[in-house]
Amino acid sequence: MMLTLGIETSCDETSVAVVIDGKEILSNIILSQLVHKGYGGVVPEIASREHLKAIIPVYEEALRQAGVSLDEISLIAATYGPGLVGALLVGLNFAKGIAAGRNIPFVAVNHLEGHIAANFLAYPELPPNHLTLIISGGHTSLVLIDGFGRYRILGQTKDDAVGEAYDKIAKILGFGYPGGAEIDRISKEGNRKYFKFPRGVIKEDSYNFSYSGLKTAVAFHVQSLTPEYLAQHKADIAASFQEAAIEVLVHKTLRAVDEFQALAVTLSGGVASNSRLKELMSERLNSVNVRFFCPPPELCTDNAAMIAAAGCLRYQISGPSDMNINAVPYLKLA
Ligand code: KG4
Ligand code: ZN
Repeated sequence: MMLTLGIETSCDETSVAVVIDGKEILSNIILSQLVHKGYGGVVPEIASREHLKAIIPVYEEALRQAGVSLDEISLIAATYGPGLVGALLVGLNFAKGIAAGRNIPFVAVNHLEGHIAANFLAYPELPPNHLTLIISGGHTSLVLIDGFGRYRILGQTKDDAVGEAYDKIAKILGFGYPGGAEIDRISKEGNRKYFKFPRGVIKEDSYNFSYSGLKTAVAFHVQSLTPEYLAQHKADIAASFQEAAIEVLVHKTLRAVDEFQALAVTLSGGVASNSRLKELMSERLNSVNVRFFCPPPELCTDNAAMIAAAGCLRYQISGPSDMNINAVPYLKLA
């Protein structure tokens, strides 16, 4: 039995988890930094300081909830990229410190491989040959997976991430940060056909995405309205924006399912909790008899259980990491 301690501090969640054999979660403590709300986005310097304050209490709580002591931990896994460099360094150095001090093997984890591992963790029956959409405030990637560790990135965003677009439209419409969940909620009261916003890249052959054109189109539309009209049509604008944003994701995923004969589709990242995306995706995948998996929100958004699971699997493939490894802010999925 291998008990892995996972540590995640790549953005604005301080998270520590204990996972057995990369499969069973004993604890998964996630502390979301709320201070950024007042700034309309994550402030890197503040994120680092908040991680510093939180890392020890969150670590102690993770061990306490798991009911284990550090002596029983057989592997320590921490995210080393991609992410904010100052934030990454807090978790990475904390992990290296414990590993060196206690002589416990250490493995550095690619955050994106962590999101992929979340699906293996949540669904042991997941077919190895599947497609995953990693969609968050920082990522929009469609990845073909042939078992853990074998990936091919089919496409990614050429500009903004889909979650970033959600957050910007939320801001334009006067909602708080982050605003994705609020757009999702208010869209249920709106007319999806109120306005046809551009779905530029849908016609392109590639599996890449682009959200800056859609964002600009919505911004121009909103600017053209009187304050009274805008107030009456916020839900309609949100719903029409959401339809454009989601349709591209579903369209390209379905095309890839067909081209690569994938047996299943999974989602991860904060935008994976979007209700319209789940509805459309399951409808369309059902019609072609392909299975659809979407892990619960606490495994979709940034969390340390996925880092522990990925660390355990990665350790079995590549062994321990070099203790000199540094944080890599723009780390790619190999
Ligand atoms: O994975 P995550 O927690 O953090 C990173 O960006 O790494 O994702 C956060 C993003 C934000 O952009 C947020 O607005 C978006 O996920 N989000 C949603 C929903 N819930 C969160 N976007 C659309 N619909 C939602 N229900
Ligand atoms: Zn993430």
